[in-house]
Amino acid sequence: MTRHIVVADEGATRVITLRRPDRKNAITDAMYRDMTAAIESAREDPAIACLILTGGSGVFTAGNDLEEFLAQATATAPPEPAAIAFLTALAHNTKPLIAAVDGAAVGIGTTMLFHCDYVLASSTATFSTPFIHLGLVPEGASSLLMPHAMGSHRAFAMLVLGQTFTAEAAHAAGFVNVVVSPGHTEAEARKVARDICKLPAEAVAISRKLLRPPPEAVTSRIAQEGRLFAERMRSKEAITAFKAFFARKRH
Ligand code: COA
Repeated sequence: MTRHIVVADEGATRVITLRRPDRKNAITDAMYRDMTAAIESAREDPAIACLILTGGSGVFTAGNDLEEFLAQATATAPPEPAAIAFLTALAHNTKPLIAAVDGAAVGIGTTMLFHCDYVLASSTATFSTPFIHLGLVPEGASSLLMPHAMGSHRAFAMLVLGQTFTAEAAHAAGFVNVVVSPGHTEAEARKVARDICKLPAEAVAISRKLLRPPPEAVTSRIAQEGRLFAERMRSKEAITAFKAFFARKRH
């Protein structure tokens, strides 16, 4: 377990916290692996009825660690991306998953929300998938799940134009359930979790499964996008954009 992911079981609720504040909770492969293990083991654990994903106060996550992206993009033999295993674990997750977003949710920070069942956002939260500006393409089955959740026009604005959504816009688009004051997302998420934990677990699991697209369709899109994403990562457009992010403060 890295020190950047904290997993705590609070009664029947498993709380998975991204804790890398100096990097705005940017996610490394090691962090993906820890989150994957926490989600997969919850699936097999009858004592866990519900999961919360949170970035703590002030930020959700700045998305994939761009230093790792750059290293992987320029490696002669890039490793199997740990993000794919994480997204696949989300697609196969069987327990209600709540997200508490207090601040920026960038890239996979936004696309993972479409694998969640209930999303709370602070009024200062923002949602963006700047794949296009990085020379990349949608990932995490977002090309399937986002049009399904919010309509193809809004999905285009976000995924292809790279527009940022405020918490209010995300609420209006239907992928945020409730907007709360900054600093209150986790407490409110715990209340929702407590309500879920009181419900009959088997009926919840069956109902949840009925509401979600079949995992096979989701994992097939994750794989399709993953192949294109991996190709794009090695493109000149992407490598230039990754380098530009780290050069920006030197100008
Ligand atoms: N990967 C690696 N490091 C990152 C990062 C990322 N995705 N996002 C932020 N960081 C680092 C910054 O380099 C900075 O490090 P430094 O203090 O050594 O310079 C630190 O985290 C703080 O980030 P900063 O940009 O100064 O914070 P901010 O509040 O001004 O902006 C964001 C926050 C999230 C809007 C901005 O950092 C950002 O756009 N990050 C990149 C997001 C991105 O493109 N993710 C990939 C999507 S596919």
